[in-house]
Amino acid sequence: MSAFIVLGAQWGDEGKGKMTDYLAKEADVVVRFQGGNNAGHTVEVDDKQYKLHLIPSGILYKNKLNVIGNGVVLDPKALFEEINYLKENGVNVTADNLIISDRAHLIMPYHKVLDGIKEKSRGKNDIGTTGKGIGPCYTDKMERSGIRVCDLMHKEVFYNNLKNNLEIKNEIISKVYGGEKLNFDSIYNEYTVYAEKLAPFVRDISVEVYDCVKSNKNVLFEGAQGTLLDIDYGTYPFVTSSSTIAGGVCIGSGIGPTMINGAVGIAKAYTTRVGKGPFPTELNDETGNWIREQGHEYGVTTGRARRCGWIDLVILKTSSRISGLTSFAVTKIDTLGGLDKIKACVGYKLDGKVIDYVPASLEDLAKCEPVYEEFDGWDENIKDARDYNSFPENAKKYIRKIEEFTGTKVSIVSVGPERDQTIKRSEI
Ligand code: GDP
Ligand code: IMO
Ligand code: MG
Repeated sequence: MSAFIVLGAQWGDEGKGKMTDYLAKEADVVVRFQGGNNAGHTVEVDDKQYKLHLIPSGILYKNKLNVIGNGVVLDPKALFEEINYLKENGVNVTADNLIISDRAHLIMPYHKVLDGIKEKSRGKNDIGTTGKGIGPCYTDKMERSGIRVCDLMHKEVFYNNLKNNLEIKNEIISKVYGGEKLNFDSIYNEYTVYAEKLAPFVRDISVEVYDCVKSNKNVLFEGAQGTLLDIDYGTYPFVTSSSTIAGGVCIGSGIGPTMINGAVGIAKAYTTRVGKGPFPTELNDETGNWIREQGHEYGVTTGRARRCGWIDLVILKTSSRISGLTSFAVTKIDTLGGLDKIKACVGYKLDGKVIDYVPASLEDLAKCEPVYEEFDGWDENIKDARDYNSFPENAKKYIRKIEEFTGTKVSIVSVGPERDQTIKRSEI
């Protein structure tokens, strides 16, 4: 039995898609357990780049089962667009390589409208969401008015659910936010078509994933977003609306914690963030701009420029603790190649004391001053390294610091976006 979690240890975009694809070589099943098409996961194979939002990153292999779990919020329109995009790029998605939970909640057109108008009404306090309807859909799930995939499969249930929901949503959209009401018939007709197209993919995925683990298949759980975007442990309210940490796997795929063998935290060799919210090691200077251009730090889902800064080991330590990480995979170390000096944050100075955890209050976090340790840089050619022994000594020192500070080994180092630009140091 082998069940491993791959999750983001920072603010998303750490390279989870690349690392899931790399690790999926040995896997039979890849499961997405939370988030939705707010995610943008890039996988590069044979010089071809694939951008995935909802479909697990195991899809590029033949004969692997990909699972969209109950914890995911599913926009059927986005799903079928992604299936078409993959088909155009030579990847066939059928019920043989993709199954979808009957318990997953559906993103409805009013969720997307509400995401947009709520953001607008927040003014300068906006979160900077991806606008995909994620927050409003999870809100309905928790409020117990959401519509699930299994509800869509029953025409009458769906009809009534949509009627009740739309009546209230239209009141909120028009009366609270001054927006335009949505039309029942057009949504109903659109979703009836999706119902038919979705039907072959729909399963009780908890049963299927359980059977896979029990029958000694290798299962990978692919996280979306990252630890500091987690609804409980992230920089609330500048977070997403799901559990991005290891605990989210159990809830989002109907699997017990005792069935999971370990969790790999994916960490960029520096830090990035899209959207608003605190970022203690952010570099609003030439070095920050240099990292953005070197690392092509622009969002896969929204195209927004990512904010860039030094690596924050306080964040990685926090992430390791919360998710019980068994190792880290450090990505994009090649991007830092060519810098003379590199800094790593090894503590926050708060009210005269140095702390090594991320405080809950944003007011406290805003007061935190990063304490840095400085490292000598290494040259650009690190992207050609395929063996850790040939790594520059300075890069090894940097990796060693990550391990020492977090108490977690670095099992994999990634030196480029391609599958083979990956150095495995030890088992995950
Ligand atoms: P995800 O959301 O965590 O899957 O990450 P994204 O795909 O949004 O962003 C990561 C970006 O970095 C993608 O463009 C990847 O192709 C790229 N990438 C991943 N690992 C590496 C690496 O080690 N080096 C470089 N240069 N690029 C990488
Ligand atoms: P992957 O899986 C980076 C951010 C948004 C915003 C906040 C809330 O590619 O790492 P939401 O639309 O979820 O309500 O937005 O979360 N965000 C991400 N940032 N990577 C992601 O996914 C993200 N998904 C959401 O920018 O700040
Ligand atoms: Mg991404």
